[in-house]
Amino acid sequence: MKLRKKRRWELPESQVTSRSDWEKRPRSGLYTRRRMLAASGAGLALSSGCGLSVEGLELGQVDTADTPYSGWFPVERNEDYQVPERSLTNPISATTYNNYYEFSTNKTAVSQLVGDFEIEPWTIEVSGLCNNGGTFGVEDLFTLFDMEERIYRFRCVEAWAMTVPWSGFPLHRLLEYVDPTADATHVSFVSANDPVVMPGVDQRPSYPWPYHEGLRMDEAMNELTLMVGGLFGEPIPRQNGAPLRLIVPWKYGYKSIKSIVRIELTASQPETFWSTLVPDEYPFESNVDPSVPHPRWSQATERLIPGSEEVETLLYNGYEPEVGHLY
Ligand code: MTE
Repeated sequence: MKLRKKRRWELPESQVTSRSDWEKRPRSGLYTRRRMLAASGAGLALSSGCGLSVEGLELGQVDTADTPYSGWFPVERNEDYQVPERSLTNPISATTYNNYYEFSTNKTAVSQLVGDFEIEPWTIEVSGLCNNGGTFGVEDLFTLFDMEERIYRFRCVEAWAMTVPWSGFPLHRLLEYVDPTADATHVSFVSANDPVVMPGVDQRPSYPWPYHEGLRMDEAMNELTLMVGGLFGEPIPRQNGAPLRLIVPWKYGYKSIKSIVRIELTASQPETFWSTLVPDEYPFESNVDPSVPHPRWSQATERLIPGSEEVETLLYNGYEPEVGHLY
């Protein structure tokens, strides 16, 4: 039996711009496209352009239809996870300024390119050194593990940052469920990889696709490490990693792998996409640390998107009490 855990939406604190902005955001989902194609009777309709402009980008008309998994959101907020010193990022910025290289290296183009990316049905295979692995449907995971909303800082290695409410469940619940064997020391993650709908893959054939990442077992088991299926109280948009991604808030954003299809428990440190590509710049550990500059720029401060406000970067992105003991 499927549990539908639909809970009442509560508007967050007053500085949250943004429910109305959020509702004005572009949706380029499969269902939107299908309905527009049906309505036009031809294969031509894409964005109809209502004139909303973000960072020079002309955005398509808003669609208000349900997206896949919408019955699962919003979920209850866990007030233990807040970022009192920062305002929430405007949802339009958080969903139109994306790093998702499978689609494009142009941040503001990603949200316009994801419309053909099918995210339902979706399964995640959990395998390797565990006693109870298997292949799980996303909705099975939403049913098995209580979901909650948490506001986290999110810091990209490129020195920009945002503050957003993610909805999901701690990864340790899934790991406990699959029951790691004693020799499992690491966890590896693999993203979806479909060049037919992801133009960025063939544009960079030398990149080590599929996108893959990894954590030490103690990092994966930390309470902060979240499997995320929702953003701003709704299913996470494709451009942000639908239907399920990882969020590791004390590490640079590239550790937070999107659209996960496989998780494997291993007995050694797994390779990662960015460490393979540029080992000197993107080490496996990748903790946010203002005292360790990137080889090509400082990591002492970060820019809050959108705009140019700079704030000081915090050790472990401000999560030292929760994770400092790991290092
Ligand atoms: N996951 C995949 N599969 N592909 C990517 O290109 N980019 C990473 C990370 N996860 C990336 C990915 C980087 S560099 C960052 S900063 C974050 O996703 C960006 O997440 P956002 O677009 O939701 O802000």
